[in-house]
Order: sequence, then structure tokens, then C-alpha cells
Amino acid sequence: MAAEHKQIHRIGILTGGGDCPGLNAVIRVVTKAAINKLGIEVLGIEDGFLGLIRNRIRPLGLNDVSNILTRGGTILGTSNKADPSHFMIGQADDGKPIFEDVTQRVVEHVREREIDVLVCIGGDGTMSGADNLVKQGVPCVGVPKTIDNDLMHTDVTFGFATAVQTATECLDRIHTTASSHHRVMIVELMGRNSGWLTMHAGIASGADVILIPEIPYNLDSICKAIIKRSKIGKRFTLIAVAEGAKPKGGQQVVNKIVHDSPDPIRLGGVSTVLAEEISERTHRETRATILGHVQRGGTPIAADRVLATQFGHKAIQMVAMHEWNRVVVMKNGRTDMAEIAAVANKQRVINLDDPIIGMARAVGTCLGE
Ligand code: F6P
Repeated sequence: MAAEHKQIHRIGILTGGGDCPGLNAVIRVVTKAAINKLGIEVLGIEDGFLGLIRNRIRPLGLNDVSNILTRGGTILGTSNKADPSHFMIGQADDGKPIFEDVTQRVVEHVREREIDVLVCIGGDGTMSGADNLVKQGVPCVGVPKTIDNDLMHTDVTFGFATAVQTATECLDRIHTTASSHHRVMIVELMGRNSGWLTMHAGIASGADVILIPEIPYNLDSICKAIIKRSKIGKRFTLIAVAEGAKPKGGQQVVNKIVHDSPDPIRLGGVSTVLAEEISERTHRETRATILGHVQRGGTPIAADRVLATQFGHKAIQMVAMHEWNRVVVMKNGRTDMAEIAAVANKQRVINLDDPIIGMARAVGTCLGE
């Protein structure tokens, strides 16, 4: 199947992992360009790799992708639990999950449907699934999405800018209550083990304290910053904390374990823990708000519509040029390619010498150091 000069007749497209704004924009450009420019048929795979496991695959035509550019989520559905190499098929009597490698079933479905190349839109988990298929001889092209912005070898993923915008709007709203009630207000953002989302939204909203996983925090420094603000007449403090933030020498707060997910740990709750600790130490009224999935929803902002379209366009060009088994990336403002294997199951975090950290310090933000 991976013959270098094989004529492409049909591609499959799937969206895997957590949803984010801009997925439909990618599906739209890939489908339109495949049909209109290259004369290639497109099959839509439902719910990410789950659709390949269960053979839930449907033709995608121009009408299917009409009027979807502005829609959040994904018209194909997605799943962040369906890893074919480690797929949960049931539970033992003691409740323990039973896993099976169903990769061959997926490969058979790809062959039965005569899919020449699979376009896989997703984050590091989806790229790991794609890498597994590449190793079985199924050509794949990756498109990088995630609100976490944590995919390796790309400066940016689509969905991130919209999530930053949404989170910033939430922080702005909470800012007013913080100020009116003279409270410490803590807002918890998503992002897994990376602080990109929290750092960007924190800077954009002028948060007084920004806590990210890359810089384990010291409670004393946070409390000192709150008290220092009070002394200069600022009777409130707005704190943006990443779900993956942890105290120096301490652990992240785990919300739940999703056993059938390839990445089973779901973080969450650090803001509630911090609120207790801060109010106890500073005697300031403190509240915590966990933004949760509101950060993944809604219509993509214009920048994400453009970026998703740019990534999808590059992906279909890569399909046509036989640049398979690679993922689209953005480097210094230009689209490029990286090996799928190089981004699979890896997460890009903020380097401590990243200018964004200096920028936050420059405006006097406490980073909990
Ligand atoms: O990777 C995207 C993301 O939203 C993370 O920021 C978050 O930790 C996780 O997914 C939540 O996953 P779920 O939708 O399974 O709760």
C-alpha cells in the first residue's frame, strides 16, 4: 500500500482525541480540495480510531462539508479512548479492564474500504495511533490540533487561540467580581502538563499570579504577593492556575482516572486545594472556578479558522505529493512537516528560558517562584 508512486483514489479522514474549535475547518478544506482539485474520494471516519475499529465509515461529499467552517466540535465525532493497540474490550469479574490489540482489524477495514491515505487530525495520542498504523503499512498524514498547544515540533496547534480567547473572557468576567468583592479569585485552566493556555490567557487578562506546571509553586510566594498587593491598596488578586500546576516537591491534583483512555489521568482540582490554603494563610475571602470543557467548545475565532484551513490545505498537498507519514507543523510562521513518529506520545512544555516567562515577569506577575 505504501508504494511511492501509487495513484491516490480515496482518502479517509478522522478526528481523534479531545475536540477543539477548528476541526470542521480542516475537514472542510481537505474534503473540498480532495474532490474539487484532485478528484479524490473522501471517506469520513466516525469517532476517531473507534470508527476504524468498528467500521463506522461514511462517504463525505461537498454537501456534507458545506456550512461547517464556523461550527465548533467535529461533524465526524471523536474519541480520546480508542487506541487500537490497547483497546478496552470489557472488564474482568474483579472490574479490571481487559485490553486487546485490535490494530489488524483496523488495517483490514482500511483495506476493505480501499483507503489509500488516512488524514488523522489530532494531538499526540492521535499521532501515536497514526504511527502505529504507519508501522503496519497504512500511509497517514497528520494535522496538529489541541487547545493545550503541546504538540512537539510545531510552534502552534489550531484550537489553541480560540481556547485562549474563551479563557481570557472568563478571566475578565471573574476579574470584575474579584475587584468588587475584594477577593482572591482563582481560575483553573486546562492544558494537561503544559502551561501554554494558562500563560497566554493569564497574560491577556492581566492575572496577578500565573501558575503553570513547568514552574512548581511555592505557597509562601503566592501569599506574599497577595499581601503585598493589599498593602499598596489592591484589595483583590486574580490567579490563573493550570490544572497541571503543582507545589514545589508536591504532586499534581488528579480528578479522575479514565481506565480505557491511552492517557488515563485527568487532572483537575488544584484551584480548590489552593483556595483553601490561601484563605487559611492570608485570611482573605477566596473562591475557585474551574473552567473545564467550556475552553474546548464554541465557534473557532478567525485566526483558528485560517490556521485550520492552512493546516488542512497543507495536509491534502502532502497527500498528493506522497509526503506521507508526516504531520503538518508550523515553524517560524511557515507550514512545514515533521515525522509522525517524532510527535507521537510526546508533549511540548514551556522552556524556562521562553520569552513568554520573561514577559510575565516584566509586568510584575507572580509566577509562584
Ligand atoms: O487535551 C485536551 C484536554 O482538554 C486537556 O486540556 C484536558 O486535561 C483533557 O483534554 C480533558 O479530557 P476529557 O475531555 O477526557 O475530560
